[in-house]
Amino acid sequence: MDRLIVTGGRRLEGRVTASGAKNAALPILASTLLGAGECVISNVPAVRDVGTMLELLKVLGVSVTREAGRVTVDSTAVRSVEAPYDLVKTMRAGVLVLGPLLARCGEAAVSLPGGCAIGPRPVDWHVDGLRRLGAAVSLEHGCIRARTAGLTGAPVAFRMPTVTGTENVMMAACLARGTTVLTNAACEPEVVDLADFLIARGAKIDGAGSARVVIEGVPALRGAAHEVIPDRVETGTYLCAGAMTGGRVEVDRCRPGHLEAALSALRGAGAEVTAAARSVTVAAPRRLRAVDVATAPYPGFPTDLQAPMMALLCLAEGTSVITESVFEGRWLHVPELRRLGAAVTVDGARAVVKGCDGLSGAPVMASDLRAGAGLLLAGLAASGETALARIYHMERGYERIEEKLRGLGAVIRRERGRA
Ligand code: UD1
Repeated sequence: MDRLIVTGGRRLEGRVTASGAKNAALPILASTLLGAGECVISNVPAVRDVGTMLELLKVLGVSVTREAGRVTVDSTAVRSVEAPYDLVKTMRAGVLVLGPLLARCGEAAVSLPGGCAIGPRPVDWHVDGLRRLGAAVSLEHGCIRARTAGLTGAPVAFRMPTVTGTENVMMAACLARGTTVLTNAACEPEVVDLADFLIARGAKIDGAGSARVVIEGVPALRGAAHEVIPDRVETGTYLCAGAMTGGRVEVDRCRPGHLEAALSALRGAGAEVTAAARSVTVAAPRRLRAVDVATAPYPGFPTDLQAPMMALLCLAEGTSVITESVFEGRWLHVPELRRLGAAVTVDGARAVVKGCDGLSGAPVMASDLRAGAGLLLAGLAASGETALARIYHMERGYERIEEKLRGLGAVIRRERGRA
């Protein structure tokens, strides 16, 4: 297992290009299972979770070719309906094949994603939604088994917005008989991107991006081409990096409109943020100031940017309160940030961050994808050397992160083969 060795204290300056959104690419790739015909998906990021999803599709019998950021998928012949544990255990989003397989083949068996570092993360609302469409779903030997003689459209009301839950039920409903109405649906841009792709394939979906989505089932979907939206979490991560190293960073080929809550938090912290249609620039203030942040479903502040934002606020003047309303246990980066000298205390869903004058490098460990990004940013701003272990978590979701940061002036090297 490789480590990243960061020599901190450099201002990050320059321009970096946003990659395609992992969280849009994953459901879009899973949704190719819904019908025969060739689909060409571009702007697919080269991150480990995408590799895992492509492996999973191949195991199911799908033909996959990948050339740079372009993936060609042909799901005409699906030969298995079982998503094996070995693939699903490393990536919760494996559960996204459940809805499409069930709708297309009448059955699906997906290993339960299992425990996750950031909390229990159940999939009960996915299952409830599919049951509402007429599926018989059981849990056998750690595996979700779903069967149907044909799905039927129905009203599905989510207790709380769930991103992959909305996506799973929306995909299944595309091939159901009749109309499905999702209420309290997730409004994330990644849900909209999936809906846009499905519509290009012949699905009838109305209202994606709002809390009420209406899907009228069609008998079959055809192949289509689609370009994945830019990654708003990656964009926000590089903006935090620029703001907390006293630098100036432009992220291009992004959609600033998808990260307004994050831009407003950065402005609240004193950073100068200039957004254009497809790019955004952050310039650091002389000293960052404290700002309170509460994560929430879109369009609220994204939970996936909570760790990077916390790293930034560790260096702000004053005390910030971060409220984590989406995943209550998402604080695994806190003890590691403390090793760098941060003053953070956690009480339930709230973290109190007392800003300090500077962090100092130390060995730290990433416990999940976004925690890893937060720690890497803290290392970039800290004095001296920070050795970040378990970077495979970060490689699940950030494309070429070392290279991109080096392009902004960061001093990072990879040390091979250490735990
Ligand atoms: C997706 C994102 C993840 C992001 C999260 C919240 C993907 C592949 N992943 O994850 O990066 O952090 O949205 O923006 O898109 N819940 C239940 N039962 C369910 C489903 C969800 O209790 O059946 C709870 C979760 O535990 C959590 C909340 O609902 O507290 C929201 O989770 P959800 O939106 O489902 O997250 P994911 O779709 O797993």
